[in-house]
Amino acid sequence: MKNHSSNNEIKKQISHIALIMDGNGRWASSRGLPRFKGHAQGLKTLRKLLRDLKDSKLEYLTLFTFSIDNWKRPKEETSKLMQLLRKFISNDLSELHSNNVRIRVIGSRREIPKDIVDLINGAELLTVNNTGLYLQIAFNYSGRQEIINATKKIAIASSKGEIDPNKINNTIFESNLYSAGVPDPDLIIRTGSEKRISNFLLWQLSYSEVYFEECLWPDFDKNKLDIAISDYKSRSRRFGNVLNEYR
Ligand code: IPE
Ligand code: IPE
Ligand code: MG
Repeated sequence: MKNHSSNNEIKKQISHIALIMDGNGRWASSRGLPRFKGHAQGLKTLRKLLRDLKDSKLEYLTLFTFSIDNWKRPKEETSKLMQLLRKFISNDLSELHSNNVRIRVIGSRREIPKDIVDLINGAELLTVNNTGLYLQIAFNYSGRQEIINATKKIAIASSKGEIDPNKINNTIFESNLYSAGVPDPDLIIRTGSEKRISNFLLWQLSYSEVYFEECLWPDFDKNKLDIAISDYKSRSRRFGNVLNEYR
């Protein structure tokens, strides 16, 4: 049996959780409702969870809210999803700000309507000095695109002689990702029973613990989050190392 109290084992503190909030469409379809009703319910679930996390010690929470690949969906659905982000920022920003939450939105701003870009910039600016939960919202996000974007930035800097290509390392690469300055997730949770990463945080998840939750996102809550965290705490993170007792 593994001895989880090994000195050699990296302590399983949890500072950053990433969430793939999947299953809204199925939640609605199973009730005979249009898909957007599932997204609206999903937003309610998120709002409740953020309230329940108000006094938690969690430092970083990253949410997958809209993938670049989601533009493949019917226009009716993508418009509703844009509308929900507007609603989230307009309705919830002041409460999040008063709870000392810092907001940062990661992803491409290119395809997003201008008024949403303005809302995002406003939310980031308002909360930039907050010291509570760091809420990273992946919106219009693609893990591959983030990596290509970082590569382009580094290539341009090296063509100008600002970076020596031979000195490119993890630190330089990470500082060019959208998530620069935010530690890698300790735990990634995906709701909705699918067992895949779907182009989320491809660089950052290298050593994250993965947890698949069967329930659909609208049915997720703080209790289920606590169960995932307990499961995380029972795991042995080794980062490629070997525990002392197995040496
Ligand atoms: C996740 O729920 C929310 C977004 C992708 C925006 P889905 O809309 O993917 O719901 P399912 O997976 O189809 O049930
Ligand atoms: C991932 O879910 C994106 C979000 C939760 C925002 P998808 O529903 O888009 O992923 P796939 O299509 O099942 O892989
Ligand atoms: Mg889905």
